[in-house]
Amino acid sequence: MLVVSLAPAADGAKYASALGVVTSMSQARPLNVGLIGLGTVGSQIAERMLTWGPQLSRRAGVELCLQKVLVRDVTKRRTIDISPDLLTADPDAILDDPRVEVVMEVAGGDEPMRSYIERAIQAGKHVITANKVVMAKHGPELLDQAAEKNVDVYFEAAVGGGIPLISTFRTDLQANRIESVSAVINGTTNYVLGRMAAAGLSMADAVREAQDAGYAEADPTEDVGGYDATYKLAILASIAYEIKVRPDEIYREGIQGIEPVDFRYARELGYAIKLVAHTQRHTGRVEARVHPAMISLDHPLARVEGAENAVFVEGDLVGKVLLMGQGAGGRPTASAVVGDLIDLARSIRRGVQSRPSFSFDDRIGVVPIGEVKTRAYYRIRVDDRPGVLAAIGQVFAEEGVSISSFIQKDAWSHDMTAELVVTTHPSLDASLQKARERMERLEPVHAVSSFLRVF
Ligand SMILES: NC(=O)c1ccc[n+]([C@@H]2O[C@H](COP(=O)([O-])OP(=O)(O)OC[C@H]3O[C@@H](n4cnc5c(N)ncnc54)[C@H](OP(=O)(O)O)[C@@H]3O)[C@@H](O)[C@H]2O)c1
Repeated sequence: MLVVSLAPAADGAKYASALGVVTSMSQARPLNVGLIGLGTVGSQIAERMLTWGPQLSRRAGVELCLQKVLVRDVTKRRTIDISPDLLTADPDAILDDPRVEVVMEVAGGDEPMRSYIERAIQAGKHVITANKVVMAKHGPELLDQAAEKNVDVYFEAAVGGGIPLISTFRTDLQANRIESVSAVINGTTNYVLGRMAAAGLSMADAVREAQDAGYAEADPTEDVGGYDATYKLAILASIAYEIKVRPDEIYREGIQGIEPVDFRYARELGYAIKLVAHTQRHTGRVEARVHPAMISLDHPLARVEGAENAVFVEGDLVGKVLLMGQGAGGRPTASAVVGDLIDLARSIRRGVQSRPSFSFDDRIGVVPIGEVKTRAYYRIRVDDRPGVLAAIGQVFAEEGVSISSFIQKDAWSHDMTAELVVTTHPSLDASLQKARERMERLEPVHAVSSFLRVF
């Protein structure tokens, strides 16, 4: 039977009860939650908890009470209607308060948030975080600590915003040996590349447009340089294979070198260009890399548009699974965080940890990029004269790289140069790079203007 809670059992419950939170008869004690961060994501979490309390609590089976919210500046104007009494600038007000059982961290950055999460775990509090930097760099250690303390760390929102990824790996795909995960997981770069492809914009103009549309930060380096995608892939690979994959072990390349003409040539060859995060199981090792790539127009990732994200998983039992949706934004991300809270509340109510704790295998390493086998696309500016094709063909042959197509594209009479596009069959990445370096030293070659891996 469900009733409206009238008498708060703890101080913090006054807000919840004032909102008429519905709770189960069998569960008198509310679950007190401390929120760290009240920005884009935190505001949406707080608003959902404060305005949709009865529905959330009914689903959780326990009254959910927002006890305190940690911010930097308590005087700052907020985008939501929230009691000033709930705000604090003192982390101890959450981390040292024994009534707070769950800490939700949506402030971001490495420190002090890693320390706050660790303190919360050591104090026996459950943690829910959207922090990809902390989870990518320190996730395995924090999860180990949480297992020792018999508390949970949830981090659905750290990868793919509102797309249910972590829970899918943690529950629905558990019967599988995951073979590979390929993802378009950074909305900013996908928006930028999409605008370059559709409108022929330069990279600089497309980034400016993304900033104006609110899809890119004032400093877009984290996204454009592939760092954000690398953090997310480190988390996905660690969860998929139950090994410790660090962001600095992942090969990373940003989208900076791509020019509008590459989209034209890609389309003619039947490809889209995306920033791809890819990990694949090998015997005793895994491949993990983030770089721009040409993807066949038939592949589901080629159709991911704008700021959307998509993750394509292959498991030995399930086969292929595609997960797609809004990878960022306050509301989708709050959906993931509050979803985690409800799941956690249910497990606390049942007196069990609902999730299996991870055991991360330290022995499995990441394959160096040079040993990865991939196809490639080269765009080469050369003198438009006889013998050039033979010289280039010889370099590929000597490096053991088999050519798939060799096409002369645009030619310019004013300087007697031409553009060649070469695609290869799968070869060792080290050989592809060596061929690139050697071609750049050939006398009739002006530049290898573009090198992209073909996915
Ligand atoms: N935005 C998204 O679309 C999105 C998507 C997925 C994941 N995430 C992750 O969610 C987290 C939050 O992102 P966001 O976009 O909501 O950030 P944001 O808008 O910049 O908000 C950050 C909030 O944290 C507070 N804060 C920052 N440092 C603090 C500190 N040292 N002590 C106390 N409070 C502090 C800020 O307080 P003040 O308000 O007082 O300045 C602010 O309320 C990040 O980890 C991010 O990677 C975000």
